[in-house]
Amino acid sequence: MDNRPIGVFDSGLGGLSIVRQLVAALPSEDIVYFGDTGRVPYGTRSQQTIIRYAREDIDFLLQHDVKMIIAACGTVSAVLPQSEIARLPVPFFGVLASASNAACRSTRSGRIGVIGTASAINSGAYQRYIHNVLPQAEIFTQPCPLFVPLVENGLIAEDNQITNLTAEMYLAPIRSSDVDVLILGCTHYPLISGIISKAVGPDVALIDTGKETVIDVAGFLAKNDMLHDKDSVGTKRYFVSDDIDGFSGIAEELLGEKITNIEKVDFEK
Ligand code: DGL
Repeated sequence: MDNRPIGVFDSGLGGLSIVRQLVAALPSEDIVYFGDTGRVPYGTRSQQTIIRYAREDIDFLLQHDVKMIIAACGTVSAVLPQSEIARLPVPFFGVLASASNAACRSTRSGRIGVIGTASAINSGAYQRYIHNVLPQAEIFTQPCPLFVPLVENGLIAEDNQITNLTAEMYLAPIRSSDVDVLILGCTHYPLISGIISKAVGPDVALIDTGKETVIDVAGFLAKNDMLHDKDSVGTKRYFVSDDIDGFSGIAEELLGEKITNIEKVDFEK
């Protein structure tokens, strides 16, 4: 057993879609979450900048003595080079591999859609990974840059007209490409999965990166005897790099519980 917390980070709120799944699957684990709300979005930035931000996020979590790090961010998972991951003193999980493996297992037609931020899609990392697992796969990608600001601003209600129109605009090409699975390659997207599902049609199975990653994380912790050994509910600490108020309201709605322990961090200091 290992009673240290699990460290999770994202550019903002999206990684909470993974925290939600983690809490459901591993309720006694302690979690330290960092949302880089002062620098969101990551997905429109250069690879160099994303790597620098990710390095700082990871170093921050390591200061909290975490036993593993989850990059709850499709963009970081797609862009962070293996050389960065290899230098880490604790196991590291991104979301790309788990989601891509799940898509390859689920597809019947071999036609797989991937949506994500511009940086994640343009990196080609999802495409490369899927082709390695399923060489005959036909992959259809679409960056959806407006989804992250819509979610960060709380426009996630299923009948929200702006988000529905945006989804219809971005996802029309995916709908006509006749895919049977669609990877939500950015962790913000499960928060609007109902809207995305309406836009692509009922025959397309959505792959939630968070759900698949947590299945793999739980398996890894169990196999390596790293699960927390207590029966009680784990503690959660949340850190953000911008105003707490902007984060707490939406975070509470997403996690379905009151959050009192949010702290602001300042990397500049
Ligand atoms: N949740 C992040 C991801 O999965 C959002 C990226 C962004 O900040 O643009 O890619």
